[in-house]
Amino acid sequence: MSQTVVKNISLLVTNNPTLGKTELGLIENAALLIENGKISWVGAGESAPSAEKTIDAQGKAVIPGFVDSHNHLIFAKDRAGEFSARMKGQAYSAGGIATTVAATRSASDDDLLANATHLVHEGLHSGTTTVEIKSGYGLTTIDELRSLKIAKQLTDETTFLGAHVVPSEYKGKADEYVELICEQMIAQVKPYAKWIDVFCDKGAFTTEQARKILLAGKAAGLRPRLHANQLEQGDGIALGVEVGVASVDHISHFNNGDIELLKKSKTVATFLPAAEFSTRSNYPDARRILEAGVTVALASDCNPGSSYTTNMPFVIALAVRDMFFTPEQAIWSATKGGALALQRDDVGHLSVGSRADFVILKESSYIHLAYRPGVNLIGQVWQHDKRI
Ligand code: NIG
Ligand code: FE
Repeated sequence: MSQTVVKNISLLVTNNPTLGKTELGLIENAALLIENGKISWVGAGESAPSAEKTIDAQGKAVIPGFVDSHNHLIFAKDRAGEFSARMKGQAYSAGGIATTVAATRSASDDDLLANATHLVHEGLHSGTTTVEIKSGYGLTTIDELRSLKIAKQLTDETTFLGAHVVPSEYKGKADEYVELICEQMIAQVKPYAKWIDVFCDKGAFTTEQARKILLAGKAAGLRPRLHANQLEQGDGIALGVEVGVASVDHISHFNNGDIELLKKSKTVATFLPAAEFSTRSNYPDARRILEAGVTVALASDCNPGSSYTTNMPFVIALAVRDMFFTPEQAIWSATKGGALALQRDDVGHLSVGSRADFVILKESSYIHLAYRPGVNLIGQVWQHDKRI
């Protein structure tokens, strides 16, 4: 049995309010014991048990590894030109997705795997220990299937997003494409996907089409989640709550009715501020959702179009500076909130029995993640008892 004790932690974020102060379950001068990849003891440094191996946190803060619950990593080629045009005034639209679909279809499996592996490692080195990956740049049965087979090599949190946009060969025949998804794709991709997602928005799928796809996925045993109201106010949040999705994501637009629906549901509200940043869009007024007591997650939305970053500390800094999250709300949403958005209770917190996925920061508090933007504050990343 391998035992490791982490000592000399200035401030430990457990995200377990029964273990320490506030929602973050904060313990000062703390220690952790890890056995076989799981946390087996958490408490005050002076009562730490001894173990075969000791890690000295050197008076720095320790937080749970980030749970990045929304990413599109199976693609080929970037869209730097589109970003540059946008910074010169062009607006973001769902149309750019087609460029990546063409590049992805002509890429080899090896190239797609290499690119996604590189991005997962990039995230891991910035503290992301659990990552969700969507398909959605294949949009044929074969290309969606291979995208998910590749994603499955990198994470268990795989999402079928065949309903990302209507592919060009189905132009004017969106309902036929919806039929293809419901009648063929879902059955084929099912062994490789945990989740089903739909981009329900302007230029993508209507509420009716999204409902049909989510229900077909649910009937096949996939768990639903939804891209909702990124580009305009629509019925995405209401649909998500109606279908019982784990999370409605983006929600750059919402109204009072949407907040009321979310309040009464178990659906998590996931904000993706790096997408607003990279598309130069207005940030939603997240405070209204936070103050309503809705469970909130933060994720990076890494993709080559609207948000080409894997960096959760950057997402936290944006959430705090531009969306008025408190540092506490941001760190919680990027860890425990992400775990709830993925319906996981083994990650996103550091309690007895949880996975030993944690980050030793280079500073003595999690506040520095927002306070020192753009600076690499990730000291050590541990994933399941292995130092990355
Ligand atoms: O989450 N909203 C839809 N999909 C992506 C963007 C994809 C792209 O532009 O390639 C997103 O932002
Ligand atoms: Fe997305």
